[in-house]
Amino acid sequence: MRPPHRLASVSLVFTARLKPQFIPRHPALRYRMTSTSPFGLKEPSLVRHQAFIDGKWVDAKEGAVIRVTNPATAEELGTVPEMGLAETKEAIKAASKAFKTWSKTTAKHRHDILMKWFALMREHTDDLARLITLENGKPFAEAKGEHAYSSSFVEWFAEEAVRTYGEVVPSAIPNIRNVVVKQPIGVVSILTPWNFPSAMITRKLGAALAAGCTAVIKPPPETPFSALALVELATRAGVPPGVINVVTTQTNVAEVGREMCENTAVKKVSFTGSTPVAKLLYGMAASTLKKVSLEAGGNAPFIVFDDADIDAAIEGVIVCKFRGTGQTCVCANRIYVQSGVYAEFASRLAERVAAFKVGNGLDKDTTHGPLIHERAVEKVQRHVDDAIAQGAQLLLGGARLPGAGSFFAPTVLADVPAGALVNKEETFGPLAALTRFETEEEVIRLANDAPVGLAGYFFSKDAGRVWRVAEALEVGMVGSNTGLISQAAIPFGGVKESGLGREGGHGIEEYMNVKLIAFGGI
Ligand code: SIN
Repeated sequence: MRPPHRLASVSLVFTARLKPQFIPRHPALRYRMTSTSPFGLKEPSLVRHQAFIDGKWVDAKEGAVIRVTNPATAEELGTVPEMGLAETKEAIKAASKAFKTWSKTTAKHRHDILMKWFALMREHTDDLARLITLENGKPFAEAKGEHAYSSSFVEWFAEEAVRTYGEVVPSAIPNIRNVVVKQPIGVVSILTPWNFPSAMITRKLGAALAAGCTAVIKPPPETPFSALALVELATRAGVPPGVINVVTTQTNVAEVGREMCENTAVKKVSFTGSTPVAKLLYGMAASTLKKVSLEAGGNAPFIVFDDADIDAAIEGVIVCKFRGTGQTCVCANRIYVQSGVYAEFASRLAERVAAFKVGNGLDKDTTHGPLIHERAVEKVQRHVDDAIAQGAQLLLGGARLPGAGSFFAPTVLADVPAGALVNKEETFGPLAALTRFETEEEVIRLANDAPVGLAGYFFSKDAGRVWRVAEALEVGMVGSNTGLISQAAIPFGGVKESGLGREGGHGIEEYMNVKLIAFGGI
């Protein structure tokens, strides 16, 4: 670990000035006219400080703003509008109007626009990745990885757009021909989290636009700039006014979220975030029986059997547990290691984690960045303290790192009891908690003893066990001998309280209605 002063030593203040044509006139935004930009992008016009409704960059009606900070330095990056109910209604209205024409475009037309958007995203890789690092904190190399993941959804759904085939169904009634067609569902509300400021937008928006839907997006208040930059590029690619709308909000999130779920013009709600919020939105969307896609929380088991390739299992857990500094829904949370390899696995893991370089994501040596905010730091600390109080052994880390940013030392705990908090709920932080087990039956019971079931991982070289365990885990996605499963082509989603629906893969279907047309009189 680097000494803590290194964490605070990197200055993020760059001197690139906003171009005059992008200087906002609203009095609440004068701050931006006089200060230097902390973003330092090659193309500063990708930084948008306004929301986007009906093809126009707009401020909040009352002029209020949300202050966005860099989690690595606690410095303010800039502001975006604090919008409310009135702006949300306007955005939905604009999306409804645009749906009338966008839904009538050909799939090929939408494909072409999405491919242009994909190309623009690629062209601006460094700037878009830098925005991710600045507002989320993940290291620049990892931000580039997210950017590649994010743009791959746009490419994937461009290709899916032209393959939304229907079918002809043999009729049981004489003189009828049954034709099944797929049609865009309508206006979609998209609510996304801060842990993937870019990829969680494109996984939903790419599918929605490809299907012929229009959208209102509520990005998270912690990371709105990535969302706004993506929309700027989508507009340059030719997405017409009203097709994409972005409402930024923080304090007014309850009324904005409710409107996005209850407004009768909205036909679908797509959300990624925590299980409690997913349940809340599901209840609201039920008032008008809207279709929903809910990708909610996980608490992924990661199992290492005695017969595993230990090198591969260590690599697997490093990527799976510590990707995004432990802040992904598919991160390993409960690490179960069989007794025969337990001691070796624990000491080798601690050794690897000790070599992490924690710091500002713009520092080229940094391997792991900060947590998103102090609440996240406090949660990890709570889980560590609880496990230790219940008899766990601290092998590494265990505490917040000093400095202005919200850093927590990568932590490894051994002998964590099954009943510890970390085994009961998602930590969302850099805490690897190891629990020893003896038998396959026992570990399946432990792994499935959770109300959620998003992802699960295990390492074993026994072919029979590989099938048994993969089938037995109560999750939507299994990584067998791999700690990394995410890609555009797979059906991403969970079972139990991890949500409903699948994104990526054939996820365009989630944005389409199936319609039967029975032709009679033949
Ligand atoms: C998430 O954390 O919600 C998404 C993770 C992924 O797509 O890999």
